[in-house]
Amino acid sequence: MRITVAALTSSLLSCVHAAVTWTATPFNPAAVPLAVRSPYLSAWLPQGAGTALNAAWPTFWTGQIVGWAGYIKVDGVAYNFLGAPNVAGAQKASQKSFQFTSTQSVFVMTAGPVDLTVTFLSPVEPTDLVKQSLPLSYLALSAAPNDGKSHSVQLYSDISAEWVTGDNSLTANWSTTTGNVLTHQVQLAKQSPFSEVNDHIQQGSAFYSTHSTTGTTFQTGQDTVVRAQFIANGRLPNTQDTTFRAVSDRWPVFAFAHDLGTVSQATPPVVLSVGHIRDPAIQYIVAGGAIQQRSLFFLSQFSTMSAAISSFLDDFSAALTRAKNFDAQVNRDASAISSDYASIVALSIRQVFGATELTISKGRTGKFNTSDVLMFMKEISSDGNVNTVDVIFPAWPAFLYANAALGKALLLPLFEYQATGQYPNKWSVHDMGASYPKALGHNDGRDEAMPVEESGNMLIMTLSHAQRTGDKSLLTTYFKLLDQWTQFLITDSLIPANQISTDDFAGSLANQTNLAIKGIVGIKAMAQIASLVGDTARSANYSSIASSYVSQWQKFATASTGKHLTLAYGNDNSWGLSYNLFADKLLGTNVFPKSVFDMQTSWYSTVANSFGVPLDTRHTYTKSDWEIWTAGLVTSTSVRDLLISSVRKFAADGLSSQPFGDWYETTNGAVEGFRARPVVGGHLALLAL
Ligand SMILES: *[C@@H]1O[C@H](CO)[C@@H](O)[C@H](O)[C@H]1NC(C)=O
Ligand SMILES: *[C@@H]1O[C@H](CO)[C@@H](O)[C@H](O)[C@H]1NC(C)=O
Ligand SMILES: *[C@@H]1O[C@H](CO)[C@@H](O)[C@H](O)[C@H]1NC(C)=O
Ligand SMILES: *[C@@H]1O[C@H](CO)[C@@H](O)[C@H](O)[C@H]1NC(C)=O
Repeated sequence: MRITVAALTSSLLSCVHAAVTWTATPFNPAAVPLAVRSPYLSAWLPQGAGTALNAAWPTFWTGQIVGWAGYIKVDGVAYNFLGAPNVAGAQKASQKSFQFTSTQSVFVMTAGPVDLTVTFLSPVEPTDLVKQSLPLSYLALSAAPNDGKSHSVQLYSDISAEWVTGDNSLTANWSTTTGNVLTHQVQLAKQSPFSEVNDHIQQGSAFYSTHSTTGTTFQTGQDTVVRAQFIANGRLPNTQDTTFRAVSDRWPVFAFAHDLGTVSQATPPVVLSVGHIRDPAIQYIVAGGAIQQRSLFFLSQFSTMSAAISSFLDDFSAALTRAKNFDAQVNRDASAISSDYASIVALSIRQVFGATELTISKGRTGKFNTSDVLMFMKEISSDGNVNTVDVIFPAWPAFLYANAALGKALLLPLFEYQATGQYPNKWSVHDMGASYPKALGHNDGRDEAMPVEESGNMLIMTLSHAQRTGDKSLLTTYFKLLDQWTQFLITDSLIPANQISTDDFAGSLANQTNLAIKGIVGIKAMAQIASLVGDTARSANYSSIASSYVSQWQKFATASTGKHLTLAYGNDNSWGLSYNLFADKLLGTNVFPKSVFDMQTSWYSTVANSFGVPLDTRHTYTKSDWEIWTAGLVTSTSVRDLLISSVRKFAADGLSSQPFGDWYETTNGAVEGFRARPVVGGHLALLAL
């Protein structure tokens, strides 16, 4: 990771604390996930300390608005329930409740005598590659009288062209297709494959769709015109505006209305889908520097986008059932730790999966090659790197928990690329490319160097994948690379040279205690890998090296008081979160003695600030992912709960309105520069044990 100036400056937003009048379960997060399924389908409600669904526009993770408006008419009176459009003739619905689970954000909006339940469902389908790879999200609307009487009800929603670009001065074009499914499709008139502007992809299309049923109407046109049309008439004229123009030129919107007629009890949901799809999706470097173009996996099953969208809409009720089961399972598992923990996990899951895309290539025959599945992850906000090893690593527990086999698809690009021999360094590469969605490697070897960090990470993740799945293919196919990285760790991890770790924003340092832990666990992981492939001599050798390093390390790394580990050898007053010990526990390698875990546990109980334990003695900030990893390794339940409740307190403190930031200040709970990053997968650390 690397910090950008934009990320730093945008963290200091001032926020107005509105009075919250609704019930929030489990709490109001800084930003609510609305449609979060890929790096480019990422719509949130910026909430701060309490902003209703109709008090702000939904925004992309960067904070840029993605127009999404909703109205309901009840007995001829129009109410705005979604977004913040400014069109005369409508009042605001009043938010009654808000709830989030791992896959859903559900709002109840009161519109006079009718309550409208607004469900945003972003499926997480870790065991179904087709469904997981489809970058579509549901909006489901159900109306019910709140006064026991019958009422005439019409619904309306639209999206703007802001969903397709990071530059609203660019020209969009659009079309509407009718049939069983009504779909508005919008895109930039000039496509720029594989390029981003302000983190939005400048390629592909946004799709807004619904089933065509009696009483469903549509319109495309200027925002104020189309919305006023519904406010006045409760229906739309089925007309299209074909004056293609800039996104911000008389803001074109893409709208549907549904006439529910007379409503006397809760209606079956009106279902819409919103998505952003491009093809090809990813550029990927293969042997000899050739560039392969990869497609989202679902295209191997559907020949057209419209077939995929139809299937997605038809699947709503089954998808909702699966989502509820998944939510319940996660909630049960995480609640076994604590309710604070369950709420952190629920807020993290869409965010981690929403940074990834599952892809497939076409083989030599021109047909999709179903044995070639690769997952790509965008680092998000700290920079746009592709498959950053030290970002996959903190997020890794989410994959172990949800489906460890997906972890292989995430590691494979790194293995395949380095096995081609194009990467020149003897340690593991940092990432697959400087800028998503271009996984073009680093043939010049000048990626951000984190030699011990990334080599240890790869060894640890590879072993844990094999342990969880029983699949040894990565071990056998890439044994040479794994052993190469181990040689580097044997040389450089007991006395780590001056270098950065994943916490690069804290600066570089020689002899980092926590980095040495990672390297030593990495060596021990290779001992187990060797054993799993039957190389017992190598296994015994690396095991004994790891053990001898641990005894030497204990002398280097323990403060002279014997009360804690240092941040760096010899600096007695320094300390930090030694979260890499969690890897020793996760793998069951047990190279570090229990006394070290006990010592750190006691120490952390004495140095916590009101929002948790600082990352290390150089600063008072911390990282939520490492805070929870540490909660996973401490040997006392009360210290574990102290760490968890600190992160929960930060997540609910309303001091920002950006998607879950993992880097924050322990003294006052203010967020630092990061947001929406997949590293929040690390919040599942206790579920991965
Ligand atoms: C919109 O622009 C794209 C890209 O230039 C083009 O392929 C498509 O035909 C256009 N669609 C419409 C409806 O004009
Ligand atoms: C399909 O992908 C696998 C895994 O990358 C590869 O080994 C195989 O050669 C590919 N097949 C074709 C026909 O390209
Ligand atoms: C790192 O630690 C070792 C062992 O204590 C010591 O010999 C060496 O001087 C240290 N290196 C630096 C740069 O502090
Ligand atoms: C153990 O591994 C180290 C590092 O690869 C190597 O230098 C050493 O020769 C090995 N020892 C044996 C007995 O194989």
